[in-house]
Amino acid sequence: MSGRFISFEGIDGCGKSTQATLLAEHLTDRGIAVERTREPGGTAVGEGIRAALLASDSVTPVAEAHLFAAARAELVATVICPALQAGRWVVCDRFIDSSLTYQGVARGLGIDAIWDLNRGAIGDCLPDLTILLTISMDEATSRRGAQLDRIEREGQQFQRRVAQGYAMLAERFPERIVAVDGNGAVEVVQQRVIEAVDA
Ligand code: TYD
Repeated sequence: MSGRFISFEGIDGCGKSTQATLLAEHLTDRGIAVERTREPGGTAVGEGIRAALLASDSVTPVAEAHLFAAARAELVATVICPALQAGRWVVCDRFIDSSLTYQGVARGLGIDAIWDLNRGAIGDCLPDLTILLTISMDEATSRRGAQLDRIEREGQQFQRRVAQGYAMLAERFPERIVAVDGNGAVEVVQQRVIEAVDA
């Protein structure tokens, strides 16, 4: 039997890495074999692309979109598909929706263009469920801390466009994307995530 694929999405500082880890632990406790991975990264090639993307001073938007798609293609082919085929569940910190909103909306390349680029990279491998953690801009900014990567340094206007993009995606893919309130204590948000997964 094929496993289930769950991705986590949200603006920088929304808490998705913490919640992805907690969900993976929760599923493991329930006896489910889980592959916890992240984007960009999760493979040797992907971690190399991640370092180049986040540490460089500047990357043109089109090159940025292709690099994220390349890291994703590698992750899908070598980690996600094999895990799902072996019956394991996959919990992934970010997936295609990050590209659709960061590159498609916030960078202005267009959702459809980024969709086409990524469909070549991932084929039919889409999440069964995407948890979109929503959070106030101020809360996210205060959670981000002082060490910001290149994309986080784009500032609040950029993050606002990312959040608008996520809202558009949640309307466009209502059968897959579930918005979960990410404000509040970690345990409270975790409970909301578990309810969304159970539903
Ligand atoms: P993230 O994992 O959130 O960074 P961190 O673990 O440091 O919190 O992701 C790194 C950044 O890459 C983040 O700002 C979002 C961005 N990103 C894109 O712009 N497009 C993409 O397709 C992906 C996967 C991430």
